[in-house]
Amino acid sequence: MNHRSWMRSQGFTSEVFDGRPVIGIATTWSELAPCNVHLHRVAESVKRGVWQAGGFPLEFPAMALGETLLRPTAMLYRNLLAMEAEELIRANPLDGVVLLSGCDKTTPGLLMAASSVGLPAIMVTGGPKLNGKYQGTDVGSGTAVWRWEEDLLAGRMTQEECAFAEGCMSRSDGHCMTMGTASTMASMAEALGMQLPYSAAWPAVDARRYETAQRAGQVIIDLVENDVTPDKIMTRAAFENAIRVNAAIGGSTNAVVHLLAIAGRLGVPLELDDFDTLIRDVPTLVNLQPSGKYLMEDFCYAGGLPAVMRELGGLLHQDALTVTRKTVGENVRDAPCWNRDVIMPMDQPLQAAGNGTAVLRGNLAPDGAVIKQSASSAHLLKHRGRALVFDSPESYYQVAADPDLEVDEDTVLIIRYCGPKGYPGMPETANVPLPAKLLKRGVRDIVRICDGRMSGTAYGTVVLHVAPEAAAGGPLALVRTGDWITLDVPARALTLDVPDDELAARRAAWTPPPSPATRGWTWLYTQHVQQANTGCDLDFLTGASGPEVGRESH
Ligand code: FES
Repeated sequence: MNHRSWMRSQGFTSEVFDGRPVIGIATTWSELAPCNVHLHRVAESVKRGVWQAGGFPLEFPAMALGETLLRPTAMLYRNLLAMEAEELIRANPLDGVVLLSGCDKTTPGLLMAASSVGLPAIMVTGGPKLNGKYQGTDVGSGTAVWRWEEDLLAGRMTQEECAFAEGCMSRSDGHCMTMGTASTMASMAEALGMQLPYSAAWPAVDARRYETAQRAGQVIIDLVENDVTPDKIMTRAAFENAIRVNAAIGGSTNAVVHLLAIAGRLGVPLELDDFDTLIRDVPTLVNLQPSGKYLMEDFCYAGGLPAVMRELGGLLHQDALTVTRKTVGENVRDAPCWNRDVIMPMDQPLQAAGNGTAVLRGNLAPDGAVIKQSASSAHLLKHRGRALVFDSPESYYQVAADPDLEVDEDTVLIIRYCGPKGYPGMPETANVPLPAKLLKRGVRDIVRICDGRMSGTAYGTVVLHVAPEAAAGGPLALVRTGDWITLDVPARALTLDVPDDELAARRAAWTPPPSPATRGWTWLYTQHVQQANTGCDLDFLTGASGPEVGRESH
């Protein structure tokens, strides 16, 4: 009676307690997370579907992580969202859950939570914004910002023009409409089988976004009735599919840390090197910014992810199960492609096989580092240059406009102490703009190396996720300005050309930086966060908790 009576205060009739499935709808809605601001309306469509299929829907808020406002980085809070949502799903009397996400970290955070709990779950991402339009051309969120920032620094654009362009770029609800991290992770959720076919690409304001949400409300009841839990969908085969799809779509390097973290929750064996070996025979098919030309709206009209997955054919595990309770092969077998300039065929790809994310190793990154080849400059993929070292992005920005900065096109720019423990939270600081001195000379790219991440909307020859990070005593901490560094992507090597005895002496003199926090979440995070090569989850959150809590309070 307690449980029912208190719920009746919301005006439900007594029939809702007749034993029908109770479906939680985890909503990462917030006005502080503009990419997710329409999710409360998406939730209404999910509820329609749940009611239609004979369930009882109950919407609840989960931590909204807005990429653009959160300090020092939304990544610091991905695991907090995952932990909060996991406990909310476990502690409440739910039979299944619909996960509503949008902005970058909300998709992996909710998938991590659902993976640990193990109740039937389905994801509905909020969809991308409509294409940005500025001065008669399409502009992509994020990608255009990096270009305009450089144009402003180089004097090619005024502050007033920048302010006007901002509104042109963001003209509807939705997440970034480049193939940035949000679009990548929406595609990963679909490739893993956790959201309905076509879900990743419907624009946020398209009626079919809401139709898909309603359908997801029906499907979750089917998943509950047939006990289809996330571990039955997100198998090793599903992760292999996702990694290959990520290469085909030219997806974000952030997918690496997020997929590793989700796999860690499920106990699926997945390693950093899988991201290199599995993609060597996968060409880039999707011609979207930042690797290509178009935007998510174009991708949707061209046929979306099912058209890509159909094109990949035998490169994917066709028999992997999805939330439709059909296999990948059954879902995409007849998927049409309407525009071959947006989704290119296997025999005429945007970039040949092997141009996706490469995993580098060497004495500068013993546990690995990654580079997005499709966003790099071909002439820099084999490069030797002298290091110019900064201990934070802020210290670099203080001198980035200095016309006397000792830098040239061969310089290897090091930005360090940006890893999970160091910054903290492993921010997207790796793709710092080039020094103004080089930009004015027309240089558009130099090698940059960082233990942080890079925005999925960014481009450049940037070595990321160096592990172990500098703050954890990784060799990146030992580099000095003037040291020679060799990057050899074809050989998957990143080498600091300094003798071992000299490195040992530098290590003996090195002291770790002070902890960035002494209390609260940031302290807990820095004490327990793992390195990028295993996905940056907290050590005590990997694995499953299960749907049952220990004791009843009433
Ligand atoms: Fe939210 Fe890009 S800022 S998706």
